[in-house]
Amino acid sequence: MKKKNALVTGASRGIGLAIADCFKKQGINVLAPGRKELDLLSKDSIANYLAGLKCPVDILVNNAGINMLGGIVSLEERNIQETIQVNLLAPLDIIRNVAPRMMHKKYGRILNIGSIWGLITKPGRVTYTLTKSGLGGLTRSMAVELAPYNVLVNCVAPGYVDTELTRKNNTSRELEKIKKSIPLQRLANPGEIAELAYFLCSDKNTYITGQTIAIDGGYLCV
Ligand SMILES: NC(=O)c1ccc[n+]([C@@H]2O[C@H](COP(=O)([O-])OP(=O)(O)OC[C@H]3O[C@@H](n4cnc5c(N)ncnc54)[C@H](OP(=O)(O)O)[C@@H]3O)[C@@H](O)[C@H]2O)c1
Repeated sequence: MKKKNALVTGASRGIGLAIADCFKKQGINVLAPGRKELDLLSKDSIANYLAGLKCPVDILVNNAGINMLGGIVSLEERNIQETIQVNLLAPLDIIRNVAPRMMHKKYGRILNIGSIWGLITKPGRVTYTLTKSGLGGLTRSMAVELAPYNVLVNCVAPGYVDTELTRKNNTSRELEKIKKSIPLQRLANPGEIAELAYFLCSDKNTYITGQTIAIDGGYLCV
């Protein structure tokens, strides 16, 4: 069987790297462009990268994301524009580009990496929450439009994952407190998110589409 091609954004570290490694172990050919090849802040960079793709994308994982904390009063214009561009408009743009080939091939898997902060929120996360909840809407609308073409579209909403992003936004003291508030009493490993991502993007998933699936150690239950 021909190898499937997966494009994974933000695969230089953290969750994206774990997803890329997991896919490779499963025999998938992974395209993991670095920021120099694909900068999601730049519409030109996105257009150029996609125009230069040498192979069709069978699986797309919109993983790259940023989370600049800031409440409504102190919110900077840069925070608003960049968060919306990287977390929401770039995934939309990439889907617009790869969907026609998937529709033509009558096969595709698209996975957006959302967040529990797209389902709940807390102070200082307005731009992050608005983009991650937007990804839920993007997921549902794409799932409905692309279902007749056997293209399944889902969203994974991780809770606290042990990555640079989490360590940047929370002190180690805060993290100790956070762990106690999670029913499973620990952060997720990026590899645990990757396993769920792989299942949703594999041929084993034949009937889940349009869903936002939390993977949070039970955090949303308490
Ligand atoms: N960590 C968590 O607890 C958590 C929880 C829920 C959801 N998430 C979501 O999961 C995803 C990955 O998070 P993570 O914790 O692995 O983050 P991370 O460790 O900060 O890694 C972020 C990745 O995104 C890339 N990226 C950022 N801005 C980019 C841009 N303008 N163009 C291209 N790539 C860019 C980074 O590339 P560079 O190396 O070039 O910076 C890096 O590869 C994000 O969407 C995040 O919102 C994370």
